[in-house]
Amino acid sequence: MQETILKEVTITAISAEDKSLAKIDGKVIFVDNAVPGDVVDVRIYKSKKKYAHGSAIHWHTYSELRATPVCAHFGLCGGCKWQDIQYTQQLIYKQQIVQDALTHIGKLTDLPEVNATIGAAEQLYYRNKLQYGFSDKSIVYDDSFNNKMKFDDRPAAGFHVPKLFERILDIEKCWLQVEPTNAIRLFIKDFLLKNELSFHNIKRHEGWYRDLTVRTTSTGALMVICSFYYKDEWVERLLFELKQQFPQITSLYYVINPKMNDYNTDLPMNLYYGEAHIYENMGDLKFKISPKSFFQTNTAQAIQLYDVAKSFAGLSGNELVYDLYTGTGSIALYIARQAKHVVGIEYVESAIEDAKENAQVNGITNCSFYAGDMGDVLNADFVKANGKPDVIITDPPRAGMHSKVVQAILAMDVERIVYVSCNPATQARDLELMNEKYKVVKIQPLDLFPHTTHVENVVLLVKRTV
Ligand SMILES: C[S@@+](CC[C@H](N)C(=O)[O-])C[C@H]1O[C@@H](n2cnc3c(N)ncnc32)[C@H](O)[C@@H]1O
Repeated sequence: MQETILKEVTITAISAEDKSLAKIDGKVIFVDNAVPGDVVDVRIYKSKKKYAHGSAIHWHTYSELRATPVCAHFGLCGGCKWQDIQYTQQLIYKQQIVQDALTHIGKLTDLPEVNATIGAAEQLYYRNKLQYGFSDKSIVYDDSFNNKMKFDDRPAAGFHVPKLFERILDIEKCWLQVEPTNAIRLFIKDFLLKNELSFHNIKRHEGWYRDLTVRTTSTGALMVICSFYYKDEWVERLLFELKQQFPQITSLYYVINPKMNDYNTDLPMNLYYGEAHIYENMGDLKFKISPKSFFQTNTAQAIQLYDVAKSFAGLSGNELVYDLYTGTGSIALYIARQAKHVVGIEYVESAIEDAKENAQVNGITNCSFYAGDMGDVLNADFVKANGKPDVIITDPPRAGMHSKVVQAILAMDVERIVYVSCNPATQARDLELMNEKYKVVKIQPLDLFPHTTHVENVVLLVKRTV
């Protein structure tokens, strides 16, 4: 195939999937590793009638919006792809992503202004949970100029690279979580190499050590979960050494995962040492976290998110609130003291158990939690049994709400709905379905994942007057 190189292309905007774009004669060119404002030569690797994909291979001008990435793995690691864009600009882009989704996907016309994105005070070390993979195969170099990856058959401990199933990018230092996260990962890797123990290969289904989860808290509690393909005498030796080396670990778990996938949460978690749970504070609440619990990964920004949801809900203390997709009940519990009663619904039963326990831990008695699929649970009988809500807060997964759930919400005929979303595209789709009956009156994007394209968005809907 003949190579096409476009010369001196001005990058004008960001786009989905971490790419930037330019337009040439009406054709959209998606460009890897460039930033709006860059002027670059682009090697095209895929071309269709209306759009093309290419990689920037030579820079004529560097954008003023650029920042210097702090991470040595930037570019190859899929984690923090916007580290080369100034943080203030990232926030503007996130606001734009929300605006575009609501107008283009949701086709909403009578919108209020989208508020400026609420940024994170800490743009590094913001995650309270990280999971690292181990593999006997690594990836070492992204030769973007030739659009090729370079592989290495040495073992690695770090992160999976999208689409490269069995390979792991070997990480020296990750900036997403406070220490001793890197020290623990490097210690385990070193222990395996020194003792000639095998790293798991997920494609061939062999190799002993699989993955590592580290959970840190602002209270100093530290949970570590090690995953092995099979149990032998080395499991205990590794855990013993880990505990000796890192006395700050407060809960040390292991899991034996003989499955074809890395998903651990359906397997028994074995406590090797320490406390069964760790605790984290959010505002004046204390949350109990077990190894399988879902917990928002950026605690500081989750508090900001919940504050926005609480203020949009406009509670006076007399309201019955439904918290849909409640997870471990964090939003329900966060607003409980400002409401008469809160009903939380979620389909993961263990999360509902955690929610009930967290209510108890915090002495909250005005919340009820139900486990079940939203599409099945939320119906007229449920409303009859639990009361018609004054306010609904909904925080669905990335896929958004099932249309059946949207219909059930519309049938409840509440005055106010607060829609919290981690995916503005599906949120916009759902809002379009509700547009006839509800008007969007407030829009607040928040950044829970600095240096990524992810954006959370909270919308307040009020019932239209006829
Ligand atoms: C974005 S999380 C929200 C969690 C919670 N609001 C929080 O802030 O921690 C979405 C939640 O919806 C739950 N979920 C996903 N699909 C569901 C369904 N069909 N029915 C009920 N819950 C569901 C997930 O298990 C997850 O806990």
